[in-house]
Amino acid sequence: MNNNILFIYLFLIQFLSIWCDNYNEDNDWDVLVFTQRWPLTVCSQWIKENSNHSCRLPDYEDIWTVHGIWPTKSGTRGPWNCDDTWKFNESAVAPIESDLQEFWINIEKNTALTSLWEHEWKKHGTCAAVLPQLNNELKFFKQGLEWIKMFNMKSILLKYNIIPSLNGYEVENIFNSIKNVLNHDPVVQCVVDKESKETLISEIQICFDRSFNLIDCDPVEKNFRKDGILTDCSLKKKVFYPNKVLSLLNAETFDSDKKSSFDELLETRNYWISIYKTIKFLIWATI
Ligand SMILES: *[C@@H]1O[C@H](CO)[C@@H](O)[C@H](O)[C@H]1NC(C)=O
Ligand SMILES: *[C@@H]1O[C@H](CO)[C@@H](O)[C@H](O)[C@H]1NC(C)=O
Repeated sequence: MNNNILFIYLFLIQFLSIWCDNYNEDNDWDVLVFTQRWPLTVCSQWIKENSNHSCRLPDYEDIWTVHGIWPTKSGTRGPWNCDDTWKFNESAVAPIESDLQEFWINIEKNTALTSLWEHEWKKHGTCAAVLPQLNNELKFFKQGLEWIKMFNMKSILLKYNIIPSLNGYEVENIFNSIKNVLNHDPVVQCVVDKESKETLISEIQICFDRSFNLIDCDPVEKNFRKDGILTDCSLKKKVFYPNKVLSLLNAETFDSDKKSSFDELLETRNYWISIYKTIKFLIWATI
């Protein structure tokens, strides 16, 4: 008898938790995370992933571009994919498509031009659409364009003399500069270059509430907190904010008169790689 009651009880708990999960999936979110990316870092990574890869870069190469607007439930990620029946329709964004190609560009050239927009709409836009201000594609993508123009990290970082170059910056410096301009905590994200092991700035997130007021990103990215700043970048090493696409095969990198430590590092590596390849070739040729 007791066992039966326990069973029913467990069943009810299970049922309720599934029901609550589904509810969460729908439209339970409180923060809009607006993510911008640094095209030259994204491109450097994309090219290194596969030698056949190439990039679409914005005409003004040194602007930050939109990655996405991500409805987020504090302390979690998502919800995602809130309406699988609502497919991305390119005609709906036709009036702003030339702007999207500049400011919300799909850097990964070996994929379709519209694939970033398609992905962002399906995964995040359909969840943002519960807000009247974002309830169709045109409004959603227009909002991204508005924010990237208002909050472009190029001009925000410039206020504190943080400019694209091959000199590194402290991540604290980057974080605090943005915080000082916006009065709210951003999230600063990096990638580590596989070959040089250097850290490159890749994305910056700022956060809005459901009324589009800027708020601190703290509730969103608890796991990123390090010494009072929100980042996954190394606090021990300088972070590069590159002013060109970095690629081991980029001859231009090795021609310049004034070489930064980063260039030198790449050059040294390239030298050893070519020696290694030569030795391998000699071994192969003499067998
Ligand atoms: C690059 O593309 C060529 C031709 O499409 C293919 O044969 C080769 O395997 C590709 N290389 C890589 C590293 O994927
Ligand atoms: C796509 O958008 C255009 C322009 O808003 C609209 O006329 C058309 O009906 C839409 N197509 C679909 C399949 O929803």
